[in-house]
Amino acid sequence: MKVLAGTSNPKLCKDIAKNLKLKLVNTNIKRFADDEIYVEINENIRGNTIFVVQSTSNPANDNLMELLICIDALKRSSAKNITAVIPYFGYARQDRKVVPRTAISAKLVADLITNAGANRILSVDLHAGQIQGFFNIPVDNLFATPIFARHIKKKINSNNLICVAPDVGGVERTRALSRRINTSIAIIDKRRPSPGKSEVMNIVGSVKNKNCVIIDDIIDSGGTIVNATKALKEKGAKDVYVYITHAVLSGQAVDNIEKSQIKKLITTDTIDNLKKIKNSKKIEIISIAPIISEAMKRISNSTSVSSLFK
Ligand code: R5P
Repeated sequence: MKVLAGTSNPKLCKDIAKNLKLKLVNTNIKRFADDEIYVEINENIRGNTIFVVQSTSNPANDNLMELLICIDALKRSSAKNITAVIPYFGYARQDRKVVPRTAISAKLVADLITNAGANRILSVDLHAGQIQGFFNIPVDNLFATPIFARHIKKKINSNNLICVAPDVGGVERTRALSRRINTSIAIIDKRRPSPGKSEVMNIVGSVKNKNCVIIDDIIDSGGTIVNATKALKEKGAKDVYVYITHAVLSGQAVDNIEKSQIKKLITTDTIDNLKKIKNSKKIEIISIAPIISEAMKRISNSTSVSSLFK
């Protein structure tokens, strides 16, 4: 078993390798003058089980291409099998045709990764569970919910706590968290009048005098969460905490969070945001490395991955 690190998230790769007590595969990943990507593996990996770790986060196209080229290099170096560990699977939000004559990019990316030579996928909180079916190879979809639940139990006063789904699509995830921390749930009815804009229409459930925990898979512009927090406060909520697996944090998102009524935003390190949030007072990062490393160990030993979440 060996781990090859792409360049999208060096700290997470190092943490994973450390947990597994492995050295990262000696690899040279460079750009040519015209920005084409060059990957060279500097050690023998013939017959090895290889995990290549790369989030397809911003710059999504470069990071995706780098992942494909790494997989191709591994295949041509006679790796026995290749697992693409994609902590953040980008392009996932285009998982169906919402309007006519659009692409389903999540399926296209699944085909690209499979055709490059991956034998298995390991990812975290895929935007939609059915993306697993876009691949014709096994997919293990891990969840951040258990580490969020542990964090809540340790850090947040459990009195009068309620879990809130920021939109209807997030109800299943919210219910899973509420079961672990033993609370009820409320649901926000969110609409998107145009791409990138979100509006809160209604809140289903009472949040008056309650501390709220919003859980979501992605924060991108921050609009969903900032508007949700505002609406919860208007309905009498006390403190609002936010738990997000993938901190995409585009544009002014960090600023918007700092200026918002959010008490604290906790996210994982599926995306490397160390520079972006270094001055933030509200954003805290907890590591997903222990869950990913444990899943890799179990895949390599052919033991159950799903039992990690029981
Ligand atoms: C939507 O379905 C996702 O789960 C997130 O709620 C969304 O991507 C967040 O985007 P933004 O932060 O730009 O509102």
